[in-house]
Amino acid sequence: MPSRRILLADDQAAIRDALRFLLKGEGYATTPVSSPAETLAAIQKEEFDLAFIDLNYTRDTTSGQEGLDLLGKLLSLEGAPPVVVMTAWATVDLAVEAMRRGARDFIQKPWENARVLATVRTQLELSAVRRRNERLEAENGILRRECEGDAPSGPGGDFVARSAAMRPVLETVASVGPSAAPVLITGENGTGKGLAARLLHAASSRKDKPLVSVNMGGLSENIFESELFGHVKGAFTDAKADRVGRFELADGGTLFLDEIANVPLAQQAKLLRLLETGEFERVGSSRTQKADVRLLSATNADLRAEVAAGRFRQDLLYRLNTVELRLPPLRDRPEDIPALAAHFLQKHLARYRKPRLQGLDDQAVAALLSHDWPGNVRELDHAMERAVLLAAGDAIRAADLGLGANLAAPVASGGGMALEDMSLEVDKILILQTREAPRGRANHAAAAGNWRDRYAYQPRAWAPLAEEVASVAAAKRAASSGGIATPAPPRAAGLPAATVLP
Ligand SMILES: Nc1ncnc2c1ncn2[C@@H]1O[C@H](COP(=O)(O)OP(=O)(O)OP(=O)(O)O)[C@@H](O)[C@H]1O
Ligand SMILES: [Mg+2]
Repeated sequence: MPSRRILLADDQAAIRDALRFLLKGEGYATTPVSSPAETLAAIQKEEFDLAFIDLNYTRDTTSGQEGLDLLGKLLSLEGAPPVVVMTAWATVDLAVEAMRRGARDFIQKPWENARVLATVRTQLELSAVRRRNERLEAENGILRRECEGDAPSGPGGDFVARSAAMRPVLETVASVGPSAAPVLITGENGTGKGLAARLLHAASSRKDKPLVSVNMGGLSENIFESELFGHVKGAFTDAKADRVGRFELADGGTLFLDEIANVPLAQQAKLLRLLETGEFERVGSSRTQKADVRLLSATNADLRAEVAAGRFRQDLLYRLNTVELRLPPLRDRPEDIPALAAHFLQKHLARYRKPRLQGLDDQAVAALLSHDWPGNVRELDHAMERAVLLAAGDAIRAADLGLGANLAAPVASGGGMALEDMSLEVDKILILQTREAPRGRANHAAAAGNWRDRYAYQPRAWAPLAEEVASVAAAKRAASSGGIATPAPPRAAGLPAATVLP
């Protein structure tokens, strides 16, 4: 087999050289580049099996914006390779954001060589399996539908909500779903806002009409109007033909405005008029048209804070949030983890056809329950997909889940480590120990003082988890199919059983 080609994008020559040396030793061919522009040019010219890209290119900024922009552009190119991003240890949020935008994994600097090589091998393996699978799916329309998240059981897909924290969500969906009331769906990334929008639409009398989604975060100022209102031929240079806007497309159905906080102020006024009157003109036309839409919107931002900061119009907020549906982060509803894991296990087993794979072993279940899930339900979905792909035997092991993979690396032995890096290493060991010894968790987490709160011990969450592990393990022993593939019975009295809406 010809050697696999890996693109290395970093503005620091020392980093490029170190990675290059490491990967070359393992037989990989590398192409180093030092800027976003060079990265894009290289990918258009040559085919790569994997790309490592740094998130910061201008030394004096740490926002990562340049890297995130690069990631977006890169992934939109035809034949883009899977991307692993590189971040400084302190910027886990940035890494999570990059994963949300399509990066496959991240490594933190300073890195562990073994960790980098393991990441490379895993990503190359996964992308080979994905490519094989894409070919199979292209031949099978039914599977393709599943892959788009359109579960066969209903238009909203399966919605798993078993925790007490999700009860208000279910109640709100049941009560306002059938109405035409505007609903603002809020929650962190990956908590299920998009899925909730599909559920609300599916519960309404408009369910046979279209649900039209617009990602407001992805609309540049120029195309905002044309996208929402449509345009007529000749309205601007590129307007070669008439175009129907999303608002008009949604006539009689539901319009879902995703990432609503990202609409610039100038456009918020236009949007408000549209929502208040239902009237609009296609760009380049003076004819006023009207459409009847039910409005759903979603954001991970705090819109009230955005209003207070003068970045979001208050009148627009009032137009959107007649009803607010708040999706709690996954770390606040650990009772949902087993049912969600079982749900995703089924989905990926069907997709990747692994008949031998029965479920998760006890350590894997414990790993799921002790993880903090900064990427919420989407992260769990990805972890299960990865595990289904990588599991070699008849059960998924903790290592297959790849959780905290960056924490699990052995501690560096290398010299020349800066002081602040060393303290990070100490945190890393402490966190590792807390993961391995649940009972000592509180003390260790307290000792790991400067580790971010979100990764630290959550007294509220842990006690029921131990119980959950026990109940899942018991159910696993009892059931012949084994493991979490057979969802455990409801854990405590007063909690609703696993709720699966059509
Ligand atoms: N309660 C749930 N039951 C089953 N699947 C879920 C649930 N919540 C989320 N998912 C699945 O998790 C993934 C992420 O959900 P979704 O895209 O709706 O999140 P989101 O909040 O819109 O994320 P973002 O802020 O990044 O847009 C999807 O595949 C979705 O189907
Ligand atoms: Mg979404």
